[in-house]
Amino acid sequence: MALYSDKVFEHFRNPRNVGIIENPDGVGEVGNTVCGDIMKMYLKIDDDVISDVKFETFGCGSAIASSSMATELIKGKPLAEAMELTNKAVAEALDGLPDYKMHCSVLAEEAIQAALIDYYTKKGLEMPEELKKAAARAAAHEE
Ligand code: FES
Repeated sequence: MALYSDKVFEHFRNPRNVGIIENPDGVGEVGNTVCGDIMKMYLKIDDDVISDVKFETFGCGSAIASSSMATELIKGKPLAEAMELTNKAVAEALDGLPDYKMHCSVLAEEAIQAALIDYYTKKGLEMPEELKKAAARAAAHEE
């Protein structure tokens, strides 16, 4: 069996939503604790819906494919749905990643959560429980 699925290759070669959003409503940057790679996610939010999303990464091919798929999965979706996106769901949508590459998909999940936390913080809105937990996990990483 091939190490990477056709979908991983396809998203790696032709990643969706790469770039930056000027004046984003939320932006999140995270580093991967396993490999040290970096991911930045930009969100545009209208009426509690992700109207646009873009990413930049200094990650590997699996990180690029995961981020591309993750942005596709949250674009046009309500915030409540976006904040529940897990790296496992992203990997499944890519028809799987090798076990030792699963950590790469975590970058996309955590960058989306960081961008959502930024949005709620800037707006002075009460964060949903889901995001509070993500914020606590991120703070623990930084210690
Ligand atoms: Fe660092 Fe994949 S090896 S994100």
